[in-house]
Amino acid sequence: MKVAVLGAAGGIGQALSLLLKTQLPAGSELALYDVAPVVPGVAVDLSHIPTAVKVEGFGQEKLADALTGADVVLIPAGVPRKPGMDRSDLFNVNAGIVRALVEAIADNCPKALIGIITNPVNTTVAIAAEVLKAKGVYDKSRLFGVTTLDVIRAETFIGEAMGKNPADVKINVIGGHSGVTILPLLSQVEGLSLSDDEIAAMTKRIQNAGTEVVEAKAGGGSATLSMGQAAARFGLSLIRGLNGEANVVECAYVDGGSEHARFFAQPIRLGKNGVEEILPCGDISAFEQGALDGMLATLKGDITLGEEFVNGK
Ligand SMILES: NC(=O)c1ccc[n+]([C@@H]2O[C@H](COP(=O)([O-])OP(=O)(O)OC[C@H]3O[C@@H](n4cnc5c(N)ncnc54)[C@H](O)[C@@H]3O)[C@@H](O)[C@H]2O)c1
Repeated sequence: MKVAVLGAAGGIGQALSLLLKTQLPAGSELALYDVAPVVPGVAVDLSHIPTAVKVEGFGQEKLADALTGADVVLIPAGVPRKPGMDRSDLFNVNAGIVRALVEAIADNCPKALIGIITNPVNTTVAIAAEVLKAKGVYDKSRLFGVTTLDVIRAETFIGEAMGKNPADVKINVIGGHSGVTILPLLSQVEGLSLSDDEIAAMTKRIQNAGTEVVEAKAGGGSATLSMGQAAARFGLSLIRGLNGEANVVECAYVDGGSEHARFFAQPIRLGKNGVEEILPCGDISAFEQGALDGMLATLKGDITLGEEFVNGK
């Protein structure tokens, strides 16, 4: 198996690459690509860790080499928001980065499973889909928006609230990957007894957990270590599915024929071709139904923005 990480020298990229170097199955290859000149050094650094995973760094001009033969491509490339930049400045930069990288994937490894981490995920996944379509290689079973950070946050916060090991808690988070579009299905957690107000507060905390990190880092960055872990969990699940393991289930933001929106985060069974089966979201509470109804205009607007970025209005 070959896994390529695009944006591997960044905060998320380095944490993710470290976890992949230590956890990918023996015999795997890890290709690290970034436009930052430090990337060959990141690869050399990781190569000193004694695991049977071959790691190689690829600088700015070597994108095609990094991608050739890749089975899985994970994309945390992008810019985090800087002072003086508004959301639309950030969007335009990251949208352009994702478009260029996905064009290169279409040219060099069109069958790879692609996990998009670059924000805003609600929109960048739509961009990736339209780019792949324009290149004639779109397979909706192979494209994923990585929403695992919302899942691990929900599992951690609820595990703590229940006095349980968070590793034993499983929570589906559906919808999208920003603000009100993030919907953790807390009503499905067995044994959770929170009041309506507590459920509302916990839902809000999960939706805004990114801000908790940004504030705690005092403007010096956003979630990179927890995101690295989330992306590693998701990437390793993709690999387990490709390797034929049964019942590998994760939530992700996919083009899965949802009744709610073209792209929707929901539980998925992963397999040899990426999405094996879209699983039902299950019963939801009246509170969750209200939140679902309330998010759809935002989510659909985010998707349209991505479609129009590639195709024009
Ligand atoms: N999906 C999520 O849950 C989630 C969570 C946190 C952050 N993010 C997003 O992930 C992205 C990266 O965040 P970070 O904190 O690691 O930022 P960072 O600035 O530390 O790293 C980004 C890396 O991308 C590289 N890069 C920029 N343009 C590139 C290109 N064209 N090709 C290859 N690499 C390129 C940079 O050189 C840098 O090394 C941001 O867009 C951020 O919003 C997503």
